[in-house]
Amino acid sequence: MNDSRMRVVDADESGKIRERLLRFERESRYLRRDSDERKVLEEVFDRSTMLAVEELIARKDLGELHGVVRAGKEARVYLGEDRAGGAVAVKIYLMSASDFRKRMGYIAGDRRFGKLPAGSRETIYLWTRKEFKNLQLAQGAGVRVPTPVSFLKNILIMEYIGTPPDPAPTFSEAEVGEEEYRWTFKTIGALWKGAGLVHADLSEFNVFKTGGGPVLFDMGSAVLSSHPQAQGFLKRDVSNMVRFFRKRGIGETEADEWMKEISR
Ligand SMILES: Nc1ncnc2c1ncn2[C@@H]1O[C@H](COP(=O)(O)OP(=O)(O)OP(=O)(O)O)[C@@H](O)[C@H]1O
Ligand SMILES: [Mg+2]
Repeated sequence: MNDSRMRVVDADESGKIRERLLRFERESRYLRRDSDERKVLEEVFDRSTMLAVEELIARKDLGELHGVVRAGKEARVYLGEDRAGGAVAVKIYLMSASDFRKRMGYIAGDRRFGKLPAGSRETIYLWTRKEFKNLQLAQGAGVRVPTPVSFLKNILIMEYIGTPPDPAPTFSEAEVGEEEYRWTFKTIGALWKGAGLVHADLSEFNVFKTGGGPVLFDMGSAVLSSHPQAQGFLKRDVSNMVRFFRKRGIGETEADEWMKEISR
């Protein structure tokens, strides 16, 4: 802000100018960020992903796309805005992700998905749709997950958990206690019995801790309880969480006991 210039106008007017300057600065910062982000998008993603981003914007499921929150091996998560300016998380699966074969085991056997996808592209599109459906199913059973907004091809839009631009810390990054411990096993049970789902990739890295309580996320792997390996996945999820809480000195109950309790 240029102070010498401010001194020649009266207070009222100076307030207005300051407001305008601030607005301009804010808008151009967003523009700059947005176009930088576009460049990165173009470098990282294929043409069909770029077109899908455009389409989501055109159909107003997405207003703006800001910086990347997390760039993983298989997906990048962006902070975006919905049409009302609210924060959303935009998870874009990389089409180059190589372990689509591994994903097959979490698709085959789930009776929601009949014919198996033919190639890696179809597998990743199906995976995205599956994560969206899983979020809906979990939420329908009263399990706290990011509210799904929409999906297209390899892009999933959902509620942003955290205080933008920061995502909420996961259990792995936060202090946890009895409350989180009880929540975890109650939630695994609610997912299993209420939604007929097993997360299948549950760990301290896939639960957010927020002021309003924990939020379960990263639901792409989740399968129906009728999946032939559902019991095995459930046991693995339970064991992962028992092990995590034990490391933090919380909980005496063994995984087997939790399994009995959950499937009772
Ligand atoms: N709904 C959300 N709100 C805010 N941040 C999110 C959201 N979903 C994901 N993130 C951020 O992106 C990270 C990775 O998300 P997620 O676990 O869904 O993807 P992933 O495919 O497992 O990636 P990775 O292998 O890197 O964990 C999260 O740890 C979090 O920082
Ligand atoms: Mg994850």
